[in-house]
This record gives sequence, structure tokens and C-alpha cells, in this order.
Amino acid sequence: MSKREIYETPTEILLKNQIIVNEVREKNHELYEKIGRKFKYVILTYGCQMNEHDSETMIAMLNDMDFEQTDRKEKADLVIFNTCCIRENAELKVYGNLGSLKKLKKKNPYLKIVVCGCMMQQPHIVEEIKNKYNFVNLIFGTHNIHNFPQLLNQTYGASRMLTEVWDEEGQVIEGLPVQRKISSKAFVNIMYGCNNFCTYCIVPYTRGRERSRTPEAIIHEISTLVSEGVKEVILLGQNVNSYGRTLEESIDFPDLLKRVSDISGLKRIRFMTSHPKDISDKLLEVMASSDNICKYLHLPVQSGSTKVLKQMNRHYSKEQYIQIIEKARALMPEISFSTDLIIGFPGETEEDNNETLDLIRRVEYDSAFTFMYSRRSGTPAAEYENQVSEEEKMKRFKEVLSVLNPIAIRKNRSVIGRTFEVLVESYSKTDASMLSGRSQYNHVINFEGDESLLGKIVLVKITDPRKFSLNGEFLEILE
Ligand code: 5AD
Ligand code: SF4
Repeated sequence: MSKREIYETPTEILLKNQIIVNEVREKNHELYEKIGRKFKYVILTYGCQMNEHDSETMIAMLNDMDFEQTDRKEKADLVIFNTCCIRENAELKVYGNLGSLKKLKKKNPYLKIVVCGCMMQQPHIVEEIKNKYNFVNLIFGTHNIHNFPQLLNQTYGASRMLTEVWDEEGQVIEGLPVQRKISSKAFVNIMYGCNNFCTYCIVPYTRGRERSRTPEAIIHEISTLVSEGVKEVILLGQNVNSYGRTLEESIDFPDLLKRVSDISGLKRIRFMTSHPKDISDKLLEVMASSDNICKYLHLPVQSGSTKVLKQMNRHYSKEQYIQIIEKARALMPEISFSTDLIIGFPGETEEDNNETLDLIRRVEYDSAFTFMYSRRSGTPAAEYENQVSEEEKMKRFKEVLSVLNPIAIRKNRSVIGRTFEVLVESYSKTDASMLSGRSQYNHVINFEGDESLLGKIVLVKITDPRKFSLNGEFLEILE
């Protein structure tokens, strides 16, 4: 594993990048003259919004280097896997996809394969790729994404696989380019890494220690986005509520949220992910008092059993969690909640799962992400002896869904006839004749409309609630 380059300042890194980007663009131009087409790339992103955001940075860099985007691996000269290792499933998908690329490499002599992201921060995985997929051209991790142009450039001159994974996080690099998919909505990182060490989770080992961006950098980025037409920002961090703890300036997450909400022209603010142990009254009060902060909270509970929560190192009990929900509802009666649940954590019993079912009934989540516990090597829980069998996990998983789904359906039915302000994001994923957007409560709302409504905030009346979304009727454009 190579160490990070500690002598370069962020400005030097950006300058060096720009020189390399220009160099690669020149080379691509020469190649274009020779083979009559631009090099095409495809980028496959797994995992969370952090990874999506890293991919947006790589896309912007690739576009600057004059590569052309495609959505088909078969047509690409450069295939990039931005990987996730939070659960085993995500890893297996990457291996499966990599395997299928070997034959494409034989067909296209120009094809380069890059694997980056969280999986690469684990030495045993890098070894596995070196041994079984030696046709991969470049491997790098989460801490040196800013060097992507340089690494890619080197790959074109190299005859062997290039590996550069830093085992430590470096300084926060400001000013990297970003290419956003949706022009009206933007993800904005406010901090990186995690110090919580929940016993099941690999993230603290792959994303490093907590580092916060300065409020000035964040406000500047958001103000620029707003001037470019962005209406909604989603503040991102593994644990946004610990924002500011690594900064010299005394500022916490509610202070930052208030400053963001004061940016003129910004219509909506969301944030994720919040850790229940760090939700303060101050945060709830800021949420309640600012019109442009969405009344929606993603608050992963993981389990409803206080015993299991303790073994997960979560630092709150079932009752404390429910108290936060009650406090938030007292201040914001319409607030909606989503959560993450892990089913079958080592040592979880039938009774513990019943506690989870009870918690779901009491909170009445609007939506939830449910995961079967996945053993991640290197984490404490992977070593716990009392692992739950796969059959038992599946049985409990089904029980959890059988309680969650009817609540979501009932809640969706209860809004028939109501109108919501919807920020129109795109065409619907399931029906290309419909537009799709979100309410401030995070409902996915689909309705018939034309292209001119994309990026607008419109009023929609709900006519036909579905299981995980709402169909409605367009009434009028608001902004
Ligand atoms: N197994 C299953 N789910 C996990 N998560 C994190 N680690 C694991 C694991 N080992 C889930 C948590 C977290 C979400 C992003 O992924 O619920 O909140
Ligand atoms: Fe993982 Fe826990 Fe950190 Fe979330 S808070 S990233 S679950 S260690």
C-alpha cells in the first residue's frame, strides 16, 4: 500500500490535475484523428450517495479529458467500477461483472478496466483482484480520487496493473469538478469518514476518520449551485450530526443547517445520514423553524432491541429512540421518517426481532431500508460466535416486511386528494410517459406532464397511491 503524498497542498494538487487533464485531452484528440472516434467510458456505481457523488466527480474529470459517456459496457473503451463493500451482495455483484469483461477485452484492444471505491480499501480484496482478475488495469481507493486523471494517464502508458490505494485519509481537497445528473438537485458533502465504529460496519475502515469541510467552503458551493439553478441540496455525511467536531471554529450541525437555510433562493434542504445518538433539541428546533428545511428525517435505528443496540455499539436504547421521534413529531406534526434496519445481527433472538416489530408499529415509518446482517471481515461483529442462520434471517426479514409494508400502504392511501409541492426531477423510472419528483416529505410522486416541467416546483394532487409511490394529477407550476 502506498502512503499519501503529504507534501502537496490542495492548490498544487488541483494545478497538477489541470495539467494532466489537458495532456490527456490532447492525446485523446490525436487518437480521435487516428481511429475516427472518441474514447467512450461507462461508470458503474454501487452503494451509497457518497459513491454516487464520487462518480459525479470522476464523470466531470472524464468529460474534461474529452472522453464520451456511454451506458453500455460493450461499447466502452474504459469501464470503471466504483465499488461498495457494506454488504457481501454488493461485492459479489462487482466480481460477477468483472468476470464478464475478460472476453470484451479480447474484442477491444483499447479497453481499460478500472476498479475503485470502498472495496479497494481492503487489502484482501485487492489481492483477490490481482490473483483472479489480472486483466484489470487500475485499482485505487477512496482517499485518492482527486488523483484520478493522473492515475488514468499512467494506466495508458503501463503494461501491467497499476495499484494505488492510500491507507490513510488525506486533507479535504476543495474545488474538484462535479457533473450532476439532475440539474435542480445537488448532493453536497459536508463531512467525510466516520468515528462511530458500529460493530457490524466496515465504513470506518474504508472511509477513514471524520473530517468536516469548512462552513465557508460549503456555503460558497451551495450559493454557486443556487445561482446555477439548483433548488434542492442534500447535505451528505456518514454521520452529519457530528459535523464540525474536527474544525477549529466552534460550529455544530444545527448552526451549519441554519446558515445553509439562510442562503437566498435555496428552496429545499435535506440531509443524511443522522445518527440517533446525536440528534439534539437544537437540531429539531432549527428544522421546525426554517421553511426550506424538508420535514423529513432519515434516522437509522438498526434494531428495536436495546440489547442488540448495545452490542452494535449504537449508544441509544429503544425508548430513547422513540423519544426522539415523539419530540420531532411534537414540533413538526407532519414530519415523515425513514430508517435502516439490520435483521439477524449476531445474538439476535426471536424476542429481539419482536422488539423491532414493536418499534416499527410504534414509529410507523413512511419507508425503510431493510438489510439482512452481512458478516464483514475486520469488524468486531464478524467475530461474534452466535451468528444467526441464513434461514432464520430470511424468516425474520419477511416478518419485518409484513409489518412495514401495510403501514407504508396505509400512509400512502391516507393522502388521496391531498396536494403536494413536487420538485420535478426526471421521467419516471417505471413509465417514461410520466414525470417523477419528490415532496418535501420524500414521497416519490409521478404524474403526466411534459419536459418543460423538469426542474420546476409544481403542485400535484394525489389520485392513485401505489405501494412505494404516489400517482397524481398536475395542477400548476409554483416556481
Ligand atoms: N450488514 C447489513 N447491513 C449493514 N449496514 C451496514 N453494515 C451492514 C452489515 N454488515 C446497513 C446499515 C446502515 C446502512 C447504510 O447499511 O443499516 O445504516
Ligand atoms: Fe457505519 Fe455506524 Fe458509521 Fe453509519 S455511523 S457509517 S453504520 S459505523
